[in-house]
Amino acid sequence: MGETAVEQTVCSENFDDDTDFKKLKKVMHKGTGVNVEYYREAYLKRRLKVRLMVTKTNTYSEYIQYLKANPDEFSSLVNDLTINYTKFFRDPDVYVFLKEKLLPELILSPKKWVRIWSAGCATGEEPYSLAMLTQEVLKQSPKQCQVTIYASDLDKTALAKASSGTYNRRAVQGIDEELLSKYFELDGELYKVKPFVKKPIHFEDQDLMTPPIRRNLDLILCRNVMIYFSRDIQQQIYTNFYDSLRTGGYLITGKTEFVAGEANNKFVDVNPACRVYKKA
Ligand SMILES: C[S@@+](CC[C@H](N)C(=O)[O-])C[C@H]1O[C@@H](n2cnc3c(N)ncnc32)[C@H](O)[C@@H]1O
Repeated sequence: MGETAVEQTVCSENFDDDTDFKKLKKVMHKGTGVNVEYYREAYLKRRLKVRLMVTKTNTYSEYIQYLKANPDEFSSLVNDLTINYTKFFRDPDVYVFLKEKLLPELILSPKKWVRIWSAGCATGEEPYSLAMLTQEVLKQSPKQCQVTIYASDLDKTALAKASSGTYNRRAVQGIDEELLSKYFELDGELYKVKPFVKKPIHFEDQDLMTPPIRRNLDLILCRNVMIYFSRDIQQQIYTNFYDSLRTGGYLITGKTEFVAGEANNKFVDVNPACRVYKKA
């Protein structure tokens, strides 16, 4: 039997076992601390299929036994669930908009302290891209202004890499040479973010499911994170973002994401192509 045929047999006979699936979700929550009830079922099942293949288990029930016997598997499971793919200046047009329009507007506003949140920051490329642009805008600004960037994720391994601020040559490829030499220093073959770029960034281990802890933020970037969640949970998180922003504050989602349903009434589209919204 070919691999696809095996997969199909496994899917039809075992993957639909609802009781074991529910049990597995509880085991996962307990073992990883991540409440997987919030994730889209199709997404969760796709990721589990990968883990079942890797661990050579055939059913959810077998996989539960495997987890019990091999607790290290919990961290592989978290890694697989929280896909950390990211890059510096991901979707360059969004960063052009930030540099030319949004950041100057925030920095030149009467406020003396601008606060930004990169929610689901993975390994740090997003908050560092923001920090570099902020430096560029601040240099041009006639006004003094303090900028703080909160950068959060629930994946501790990704966060540790983010706060180390150390990247290989491949990771920094998307950065313009001038910015690279201004904001990074070479350490052997690795590129390290200079301390003054890191200074305004506060890395935090935070699950987006927990209620917001900050108010009056000026800008939230939550890009390529919502894809994991069911629609109800997306609504809840967008409502939390609404509560965390000041009136007139901005929200930027990923290019394939958008604020839909009830939550959509709370925001005005500012730049649909770049998925920029403003708190109404
Ligand atoms: C694909 S990365 C996106 C990184 C970056 N925002 C970007 O657009 O390049 C998604 C990140 O969301 C994080 N994530 C997933 N579920 C989360 C949750 N409930 N709370 C906080 N972060 C979460 C993952 O750990 C992962 O690092």
